[in-house]
Amino acid sequence: AVHCIGVALAARGEARIALAGGGTPRPLHRRLAESPWVDAVDWSGVHVFWGDERCVPPDDPASNYRMARETLLDHIPLDPSAIHRIAGELPAKEAAAAYAEQLGDAPLDLVLLGLGGDGHTASIFPDTPIRAASDQAVLVTRSPVAPAGRVTLGLGPINGARTVAFLALGPGKARTVARVLAEFGTETPALPAARVHPASGELHWFLDGESAAELGDVRRELEGR
Ligand code: 6PG
Repeated sequence: AVHCIGVALAARGEARIALAGGGTPRPLHRRLAESPWVDAVDWSGVHVFWGDERCVPPDDPASNYRMARETLLDHIPLDPSAIHRIAGELPAKEAAAAYAEQLGDAPLDLVLLGLGGDGHTASIFPDTPIRAASDQAVLVTRSPVAPAGRVTLGLGPINGARTVAFLALGPGKARTVARVLAEFGTETPALPAARVHPASGELHWFLDGESAAELGDVRRELEGR
């Protein structure tokens, strides 16, 4: 993350990053907010976006914005105007339109993504219409797990990013990581996370021993791709 931000700042004077929701990013955020990492970044050029948000107010315990504020944003010198949260307190369609406006067309420099057990990422779920997920930069979806209302980046801004990094840790993710990576690069992947395939950007998976435990021969296959 520090490297991506530094490369973007050097090249364009600004770094546009999209944070992931859920619980996995917490330790990463905390690390970024501590020395030496917090001092390694010129935060004045960083713009923070989100991959997705739950349709709840920003102080709701389920809010991805609230999680990021508590673990990162309150601890780094970011100008409030550089924090582009998805307005979860608004009606979803309104929040999505406002966010698409804020996001604009410029590529994101870094998109952090989590992975759900059903193969979802951001808030693109297995039953999210693929046409909508592919054609809309920002879309409204429904999660099978409360809070149901979601606003999410579509595959366009994700696959248009300069770097995409999945964070998937722990034994609970092992089966899904293996399924997603087995589908990666195939014609019509069933799992949304397998449709993350940056057009020209880099794709990284940050796993631990437990979440990588079922990779087995998939790892060898991937090395061949
Ligand atoms: C969300 C996230 C979602 C999350 C995965 C993994 O809003 O819930 O964007 O895509 O990243 O569900 O969640 P955990 O990190 O909590 O396992």
